[in-house]
Amino acid sequence: MGAQWGDEGKGKITDFLAADAEMVVRFQGGNNAGHTIIVDGVTYKFHLIPSGILSGKVCALGNGVVIDPQILLDEIQGLHQAGISDQGLKISPNAHLIMPYHVALDHAQEDARSAKDSIGTTRRGIGPCYADKASRVGVRLQDALDKDLLRSRVEATLQPKLHLLGERTHAPELQVDHIVETYHALALKLSVYMEDVARLIWDACDRKERVLCEGAQGALLDLDHGMYPFVTSSNCIAAAACAGAGVDPRSINRVYGVAKAYPTRVDTVGPFPTKFGDSPMNTLLVERGGEFGTTTGRQRRCGWMDLVALRHAVRLNGITDLVLTKLDVMYDIHPLCVVDTYALPDGQIIDYYPYQADLLDQVHPVITELSGFSGDISGARSWDDLPHGAQEFIQAVGERAGAPVSMVGVGQSREQIITL
Ligand code: IMP
Repeated sequence: MGAQWGDEGKGKITDFLAADAEMVVRFQGGNNAGHTIIVDGVTYKFHLIPSGILSGKVCALGNGVVIDPQILLDEIQGLHQAGISDQGLKISPNAHLIMPYHVALDHAQEDARSAKDSIGTTRRGIGPCYADKASRVGVRLQDALDKDLLRSRVEATLQPKLHLLGERTHAPELQVDHIVETYHALALKLSVYMEDVARLIWDACDRKERVLCEGAQGALLDLDHGMYPFVTSSNCIAAAACAGAGVDPRSINRVYGVAKAYPTRVDTVGPFPTKFGDSPMNTLLVERGGEFGTTTGRQRRCGWMDLVALRHAVRLNGITDLVLTKLDVMYDIHPLCVVDTYALPDGQIIDYYPYQADLLDQVHPVITELSGFSGDISGARSWDDLPHGAQEFIQAVGERAGAPVSMVGVGQSREQIITL
């Protein structure tokens, strides 16, 4: 699970953990997510396919994922070109499809918002697709296989959206006939991967196999527990694996929360208490950490490790293991700071994440200065290889966030992970 605002480096950690699992499952989000994994010097970028595909595992997209079929087929083609098998890919027939009008609506809604009200979505149609799902006018993969059903669903759902779409209504890709023909054909191509994902998971659990569920986005972007409305449109906490893939809650025994050594936010809006703002420190980390969105290319805002927010994520997810990524980026930063509490405008100190967005905008992070470390730690492979300042940082995070740090990332490749 992402324990911050997404982009924590979950793809690489999933790829690493997948080695010990028989099955990897995505259960929420869609191609708003972006995962970069580097294996043997080759870079792979995925938006929908679970990162475990590189380990040759069964990789499933659960019912809670929203699928842009063309994007998924392009990714599958990318796998073929790279010589990677798609044998293990399974897709829930109940997963909803992102339709062209969802993407158009996402654009129209974002364009209509003032800079202040903008959510800064990835414009991939995620919100409108989940909205149709909740309104019971969405198109599931299995629905698109039946041309008549697809047509009636599209006609019914498109009508009330026309005024919102304005000029875009006339676009060729938004005409009903075109949508029906195109999406029926795309669904047919995907139907070869269709399988009852919930049952696959139960059967795997019955065989005592390990199933790794791969979260997208992060706890602070959760639709219910993040800072609404500056959130994504799905639940991105561990419990969502139950609804979004049919996982029995009693079968979850380990929750890995991935947190970057410095949190980032990809959008320009939404509260972010420990952000550096427009400062040399921000520029330094953007450059060193390559902090540009995998999906949108947008520059991310960076900040000090926010332990108040991380504690919130630990509780929401029931995190048993924290994974700290990109620690190697924080070299030669003295002092290296963490934020353990917030000061309210009246001076009161709080150690919890407030539910009011306006309050979160006004809090001052209370900074604890740690000594930091010098030099390159990307070659470290064990606790003892790490300089004292790096160990001190890891210990502070584990002790104050409420869950032990069990893995540390010190570089982009698979080998650059220290297990503790
Ligand atoms: P949406 O998910 O495209 O609707 O965007 C809603 C919010 O979630 C925006 O602030 C996005 O920048 C953010 N968001 C969505 N997916 C990701 C992700 O994978 N990483 C980081 N931020 C994301």
